[in-house]
Amino acid sequence: MKALDRVARRGFLRTASGALGAVAVAKHGVGQGWAAESPPRRRDRAALDRLRADLDAQGREFMAPPKPDQQFLNLLVQASRARNVLEVGTAYGFSAIWIALGLEETDGGLTTIEIKPDRVESAKKRVAEAGLSVRVTCLLGDAHQLVPTLAGPFDLVFLNADKSGLADYFTKLYPTKLAPGGLLLAYGAILLRDKMKDYLAAVSHHPDFETVIVSATMDDGFAVSYRERG
Ligand SMILES: C[S@@+](CC[C@H](N)C(=O)[O-])C[C@H]1O[C@@H](n2cnc3c(N)ncnc32)[C@H](O)[C@@H]1O
Repeated sequence: MKALDRVARRGFLRTASGALGAVAVAKHGVGQGWAAESPPRRRDRAALDRLRADLDAQGREFMAPPKPDQQFLNLLVQASRARNVLEVGTAYGFSAIWIALGLEETDGGLTTIEIKPDRVESAKKRVAEAGLSVRVTCLLGDAHQLVPTLAGPFDLVFLNADKSGLADYFTKLYPTKLAPGGLLLAYGAILLRDKMKDYLAAVSHHPDFETVIVSATMDDGFAVSYRERG
């Protein structure tokens, strides 16, 4: 099979599996890893800048963190060479696109979960318009139920949904779904730290994790937790 055919076929399969929902996810092993079939793609710099500016302009109306935070996410994906990434809280797909742009560099894939059906549809459309459907699987459902069905392990997990649920996500991700040497990121760690205090305490005091609070905007920011290789 020619390389391009393989890429197109994988794009179809991954998009289709994303549409099947929770039961199919478990059966088809979404989040199981990423087959290295397509070479990393380098986009034209001007086109990339236009896409990133558009994302920032629109994203602010759709609950997406601002551009410096998204750039930080994108940079971490690339710097950590993450290939299997999970996002909890897709909303309209803005951070999914920023993450997927990083995954073009590492030849990886993103699984992203959103509880609201209209948002999943909107995210899929945006991801497709950005030419990234091959890298992104959008799942519809409650992440508290879906995360345990994913195969993992993930190299990087971005938690950006219900803050009160963070401690529960942590127990569902560690130890089996987050790879040793993996990164666990939770957004809102400055402005919403009160709502996140159980989670922040759990990761900060955990002997297998090194956690720092990072702000790219000098406003809100991330709790970035590195799982030591042990
Ligand atoms: C702040 S928005 C995410 C923004 C997105 N990451 C971005 O940057 O474009 C949070 C999203 O999490 C979703 N959400 C909340 N609880 C959830 C749950 N239990 N499972 C899945 N998604 C959830 C909300 O519906 C909302 O769309």
